[in-house]
Amino acid sequence: TMDYQYDLRHKVLLKDERIRELECMLAEKDEEIEELKAKLDKFQSIFPTATQQRHLGTMGVGVPRTRRAQGISAEPNLMLNDPSSAEIQTYAKSENTKTLIRGAILENDFMKHLEDCQIEEIVDCMYPVEYSNGSCIIKEGDVGSLVYVLEDGKVAVTKAGAHLCNMGAGKVFGELAILYNCTRTATVKATTHVRLWAIDRHCFQAIMMRTGLLKHSEYLEFLTSVPTFSGLGEDLLRRIVDVMEECHFDYGDYIIRQGAIGDTFYIISKGNVEVTKRKSASSESVVIRKLAKGDWFGERALQGEDLRTANVVVEDREGATCLVIDRQSFTQLIGDLDSVKQRKYDEVPELSKKSDGFYDGLILEDFTAIDTLGVGGFGRVELVELKSDPAKTYAMKVLKKRHIVDTRQQEHIKNEKVIMMDCNSDFIVKMYRTFRDTKYIYMLLECCLGGELWTVLRDKGHFDDSAARFYTACVVEAFTYMHARGIIYRDLKPENLLLDTRGYAKLVDFGFAKRIGFSRKTWTFCGTPEYVAPEIILNKGHDLSADYWSLGILMFELMTGSPPFSGSDPMKTYNQILKGIDMIEFPKKISKNAQSLIRKLCRDNPSERLGNQRNGIKDIQKHKWFDGFHWIGLRKGTMAPPTKPQVTSSSDSSNFDKFPEDDDTPPPDDLSGWDNDF
Ligand SMILES: *[C@@H]1O[C@H](CO)[C@@H](O)[C@H](O)[C@H]1NC(C)=O
Ligand SMILES: *[C@@H]1O[C@H](CO)[C@@H](O)[C@H](O)[C@H]1NC(C)=O
Repeated sequence: TMDYQYDLRHKVLLKDERIRELECMLAEKDEEIEELKAKLDKFQSIFPTATQQRHLGTMGVGVPRTRRAQGISAEPNLMLNDPSSAEIQTYAKSENTKTLIRGAILENDFMKHLEDCQIEEIVDCMYPVEYSNGSCIIKEGDVGSLVYVLEDGKVAVTKAGAHLCNMGAGKVFGELAILYNCTRTATVKATTHVRLWAIDRHCFQAIMMRTGLLKHSEYLEFLTSVPTFSGLGEDLLRRIVDVMEECHFDYGDYIIRQGAIGDTFYIISKGNVEVTKRKSASSESVVIRKLAKGDWFGERALQGEDLRTANVVVEDREGATCLVIDRQSFTQLIGDLDSVKQRKYDEVPELSKKSDGFYDGLILEDFTAIDTLGVGGFGRVELVELKSDPAKTYAMKVLKKRHIVDTRQQEHIKNEKVIMMDCNSDFIVKMYRTFRDTKYIYMLLECCLGGELWTVLRDKGHFDDSAARFYTACVVEAFTYMHARGIIYRDLKPENLLLDTRGYAKLVDFGFAKRIGFSRKTWTFCGTPEYVAPEIILNKGHDLSADYWSLGILMFELMTGSPPFSGSDPMKTYNQILKGIDMIEFPKKISKNAQSLIRKLCRDNPSERLGNQRNGIKDIQKHKWFDGFHWIGLRKGTMAPPTKPQVTSSSDSSNFDKFPEDDDTPPPDDLSGWDNDF
């Protein structure tokens, strides 16, 4: 048996060796594939091909983005100027129908996340539509604005001619169109006579915004009447509103119990309660007070643990609803109540104008284009030099006015100019001035000849921990500057980071940036699908904290080469985002500390996000992942970057991809005068 064992061991060893050999070969092949893929990606990102369009259809998690992503924004909704008074038409329907629509909404991956009161309003506002057998309800590629619930009949769904599925009563379809103006990603045809219920984007968004705003102003009003919060100022009260949660209690429930320790504060928003108290341990509780809507209790809990001195019991058969604030979220978001009262709040600092007059005297003809740095639907970016001093080069962004008007981006372009002109940070690309003619708007920008961070990431595959930290830190610096001035950025992604000749990253493209202040929310759907925060998708109103979400997504993409949430179409991406970061498996490439920071940035609840708490963005800088990071060296520019780009002269554009000429000349468009400020 000794021989036999020896023989066996020997065989195992041989086998192990063979496995190692094969593994080695596999690793080599993998490397080869990676290399070829990188080459192919590079090629495809410049010349999108038909095959690639098809590949996009199967793109999933973990697949690098081979094309530059397009930002998306909804058109401004006129109804939203005053949503609280907007008349929203409702349509009568039977209880059975309402139940069917409600059920369909609750089964839909996106719509099930809406709040009950929003779902009720949507149910009321849906109107009836009918189609005969064989007719096309939604056509792939068409622009859409309606979402449907199928009440009766059957439909078939196809994409690029291929059958996807059949659907029957109680299904929702077309939901992407209620988020923003988009083209349909599939075709839906009636295969019997069908009866549907529909609602359009404007109505949906008005409902979402109105319910959000009404809730906010209702909560604010409650807070204002509580003496505990008097003198806090509206900005702060608005932030407190963000941590308030609505809780329902049933008839007879004890909301708080005498003798228990508590750390929550309650405001009654609906119903009546009784306050009861026992004189001694053995005696019966007696009613000492009744409280109603607008009354509050448990306020001492916000200052420290509260030993409850009475019971609060629900008195109404229908129960009662309270707005609840717990001490932990309160102190995390706002701080200690006593110290908050003494804190002084600074005004939003004004932006600093930096123009030294040099650029005011220039005209378009003073520049010569020497190369094209980028091309897109918007127009193009050219590398230009000053004729009088060719060593001075700039990036000239040339935007088609017709495209801006068609996509209703006038307000965004105006914001972009006003904000970029006044930003003065080493981590934000500088804008020197703008020009216009009948067809185009021109933006004269600092040129960053290191190229796009996106290109570097594509060619490298992914960054290691320390390179990712460096670029993330550059963004943190840019955000620190903007957020201190109440400006939200809303379009973070590697495409919007440029490397200067030193190899430092700078934010560019401020088309979605907006000055909103510290406690206001904004509502327009804006961003790039993989990077938008859940509250933007759910139309809840969003603020500076949406940028912290996208910072977490950026870290993930820098370290792995692909964003964590990525579906074959935008709606699938949004549904993944709504499921949350906890559903994502983190590849080993992401270090433990980085993982911890990403999870803290990508909290579903904006008031729990790191960066959006009482210490603001400093919490991010102090996170373990940045332990030992030389922030001052970064600010001073003395820190060595991960890679120093090869730039031979002020006109060296070799770090940019080569783009085919854009031969589309837009028609003139200067009738309405919206561009007078350029
Ligand atoms: C939606 O987009 C299309 C094409 O981009 C445009 O023609 C149409 O006017 C837009 N609709 C709305 C309501 O903005
Ligand atoms: C719908 O039309 C198709 C093709 O025209 C036909 O085969 C089918 O029987 C029709 N279905 C009903 C329920 O009428």
